[in-house]
Amino acid sequence: MIQEQLNETSQYLIKKGFDAPEIGIVLGTGLGKLADELKDPIVAHYNHIPHFPLATVEFHSGKLIFGQIEGVKTVVMQGRFHLYEGYDFKHITYPIRVMHSLGIKKLLISNAAGSINLDLKKGMLMLIDDHINLQGGSPLAFKEVSLFGERFVDMSQPYNQELSTALLNAAKKEGITLKKGVYASVIGPQLETRAEYRYLKLIGADAVGMSTVPEVIVANHLNLPVAAISVITDEGDPDNLQPVSVSEIIKIAEEAEPKMMRLFKEVIKGIGSRSL
Ligand code: HPA
Repeated sequence: MIQEQLNETSQYLIKKGFDAPEIGIVLGTGLGKLADELKDPIVAHYNHIPHFPLATVEFHSGKLIFGQIEGVKTVVMQGRFHLYEGYDFKHITYPIRVMHSLGIKKLLISNAAGSINLDLKKGMLMLIDDHINLQGGSPLAFKEVSLFGERFVDMSQPYNQELSTALLNAAKKEGITLKKGVYASVIGPQLETRAEYRYLKLIGADAVGMSTVPEVIVANHLNLPVAAISVITDEGDPDNLQPVSVSEIIKIAEEAEPKMMRLFKEVIKGIGSRSL
């Protein structure tokens, strides 16, 4: 059944002109501007795309946009679906399966995250090197999953080495600090308590957020190379915890966004010139 839905969704997008994108990008909270860089954009609102999860209030601006970045055909998700909005794992990862059906060969993901490793300061970027799934479930726990690939997906190297190295090289070239780290995913939407920040540190997380991991699991299920960057929007220091608001998280993400955009564009340029 999901296969039929995927066909219908991709047919709708192909008719609109989403013509064989090579790269998919997921833009996180406060990180939507990269979509403005697309040349000859074609916009599909989530609300209009067949079988896409129905948008919540927060989500009225969600869009899937097709266009070119550095001459490379790209599809961008401006806004993603989260568990905390009441969706299930299958819903929030459906767009990844759609982009894969459209033909993407590589996936770049961004998110806003709080730091656990206090060397990571507000506004800095972290390359996700590995993750810890604390969301209490899996996007692969459904009956027909084996129709799409291996059920017991290997996760020894969930983030693609080549793409990650390309991001690190881009950071060096652009003079942007990019540290590798472990991302822990929680459901949210509440932020962490002091005790939870202590716990996250103890189990080896460098940053915490409410997204990305389900999408990365599905990308691995599809054998789709994926790399991801967290923009650090707040610091989870349990011994000096400051209240944070979502508006502040969004403000910091927006301020740091140009750095992330430069890295993604540089990597896409490499893909365009076939050096990657
Ligand atoms: N915790 C969880 N999710 C987040 C945070 C955080 O501190 N910051 C941004 N997303």
